[in-house]
Amino acid sequence: MRKINVFDTTLRDGEQSAGVNLNFQEKLEIAKQLERLGVDIIEAGFPASSQGDFASVQAIARTVKGSSITGLARSLERDIETTWEALKDSAEPRIHVFIATSPIHMQYKLKMTPEQVIENAVAAVKLAKKTFPQVQWSAEDASRSDLPFLAKIIQAVIDAGATVINLPDTVGYTTPYEIGQMFGYVSENVSNIDRAILSTHNHDDLGMAVANSLAAIQNGAGQVECTVNGIGERAGNASLEEIAVALNIRQDHYKADTGLVLKEIKRTSSLVSKLTGMVVPNNKAVVGANAFAHESGIHQDGVLKNKETYEIITPELVGVSSNRMVLGKHSGRHAFKEKLMELGFNGTEEQLQKTFVAFKDLADKKKDITEDDLFALMTEATVGSSVAHYELETLQVNYGTTNIPTATITMKLPTGETVQEAATGSGSVEAIYNTLERVIDEEVLLTNYRIQSTTAGRDSLAEVYVTVKYDGTESSGRGTAHDVLEASAKAYINAVNRTINRKQFNEQRTNPLNV
Ligand code: KIV
Ligand code: ZN
Repeated sequence: MRKINVFDTTLRDGEQSAGVNLNFQEKLEIAKQLERLGVDIIEAGFPASSQGDFASVQAIARTVKGSSITGLARSLERDIETTWEALKDSAEPRIHVFIATSPIHMQYKLKMTPEQVIENAVAAVKLAKKTFPQVQWSAEDASRSDLPFLAKIIQAVIDAGATVINLPDTVGYTTPYEIGQMFGYVSENVSNIDRAILSTHNHDDLGMAVANSLAAIQNGAGQVECTVNGIGERAGNASLEEIAVALNIRQDHYKADTGLVLKEIKRTSSLVSKLTGMVVPNNKAVVGANAFAHESGIHQDGVLKNKETYEIITPELVGVSSNRMVLGKHSGRHAFKEKLMELGFNGTEEQLQKTFVAFKDLADKKKDITEDDLFALMTEATVGSSVAHYELETLQVNYGTTNIPTATITMKLPTGETVQEAATGSGSVEAIYNTLERVIDEEVLLTNYRIQSTTAGRDSLAEVYVTVKYDGTESSGRGTAHDVLEASAKAYINAVNRTINRKQFNEQRTNPLNV
């Protein structure tokens, strides 16, 4: 069985998904969960791209020791040095340096000749190799590059010290047959290829990212780059869970495995979905809500007689539980803590206490507390509180079919002062948002609003996701509460708080090399 290294880029390429902006604490939580899942390499960000990215890559490198942490860098001295500063404390520092190699990218984007691109790539790898023991080099848009040129540049960067060669299908254009040919060509025509691991990185524009990744693995790739739930630039990247489970279930065919802790897949998917606000479609392979549902009578009958008639993956394999009722109103702190530990809680004593208070509050309103409820409360307590500038104290909404909806809100301001405001709207949510805008005293444009329930049942927790434009930037926000209106208010305030946080953070850190 060949071991395939999993290179997760949820926090870098995945975070490039439109509308996704994870904060420091959320990135750290995702990185810890990826470590629990057993990924070999975590691409934690692009340190030279912003001070926020620098700080989160550095924090992940200092905290997560079970996976190798890497950061993306252009072939620029400044990028490579900044990436080293961010990663030097990690257990196994690794850099991911790239340059485009396709004719269209070299001519129009880089405005460089192929020879200049080779020179640049070699210089970048040599510089990176002075500090990093592991240097990954990527040929951006490799799948649209000239194969003899690709072979020539790969030969040169391996000689310069690259230990991993990544050949991305940057625009999601290639087919499984073609990607197989590209990996075959490189393996046969680069004489020093045995000194490096080949890696595949695929985008899903034509819906072939996973198929292309598997074809590359069959043709020599020893590393696969992917994201949780397949999130990423445009149509996304190859989905980690689909690749890992395909290799596991079809070991007979691929004779390769990732070694991931597959039972952590569902939890990882839920965490990423919750924190990014990107919904997992019901019919998504492996992690969708319907992935294990047998609807037709014939299928149900078959499954009752023998599960394997229609079920090739067991829910248990990927950690899908039946969302059991786990705790109730009378459960004590001890049972609560134990359950939370089982769910992977690794927060502080203060966060534990906060989750317990939220649990008791929910248990007063909801009869059975399920694993999904606990997961939602736990996520809120560990990452939701990290950005409190404005805080909701009380909310009252007056609604009737024949009167004008009115909201009255008491809020704590960033100055510590408490204010009360009221406003009307054509509906309850609009009345709340008009009131909040008065408190914030600046225009906040709502560009997206989505609501979903945590579990089935009329007493479920509500989760609201919003995107707002505030203070010149677009920011997403999330709110969870037993009541949909309270969740709506919290999501809006969370989005505003995130904008303020980001701004303050950038103001504080003017030079990433001095952090
Ligand atoms: O898609 C791509 O080419 C990338 C590179 C930076 C590796 O994400
Ligand atoms: Zn990419």
